[in-house]
Amino acid sequence: VFEKVSLHIDVNGVKHTLSVEPRVTLLDLLREQLKLTGTKKGCDRGQCGACTVHVNGVRVNSCLSLAVTNEGKKITTIEGLANGNELHPMQEAFIEHDGFQCGYCTSGQIMSAVACINEGHAGSEAEIREYMSGNICRCGAYPNIVNAIQAVKQGGQS
Ligand code: FES
Ligand code: FES
Repeated sequence: VFEKVSLHIDVNGVKHTLSVEPRVTLLDLLREQLKLTGTKKGCDRGQCGACTVHVNGVRVNSCLSLAVTNEGKKITTIEGLANGNELHPMQEAFIEHDGFQCGYCTSGQIMSAVACINEGHAGSEAEIREYMSGNICRCGAYPNIVNAIQAVKQGGQS
């Protein structure tokens, strides 16, 4: 039994004060404690990208981050991307360009795709593929994902 530690984090604009075991990952905190199950667990070891979220605006594999190391930070998950009923332009683009099949990898792909543009790595198809290479899609939706990112980039939105 581990002693719990108090943790203050902002998730999708909502402040939480939580009591967390030090061994719990950010991914498990989001899914199990906060019931935000849009963020997926694929490999649980940093190899698939399904668990990608933004921490203080930077993409992170949440399975590799211990929850308690996020004290005072701002987390954005797929649930926090839309603006009310209005989808984020990247969510719209994934729908428009068929950027998914089974959908299991999609939350992580979209979070990485938003970061790809925000961090300035969407200059060319090759650059997008390189930046997105940590997000695995078993369904092979890669070409459509790249198309979606390029469309948002060209639209000047992200
Ligand atoms: Fe985190 Fe696979 S579940 S990288
Ligand atoms: Fe099925 Fe990517 S859409 S794993």
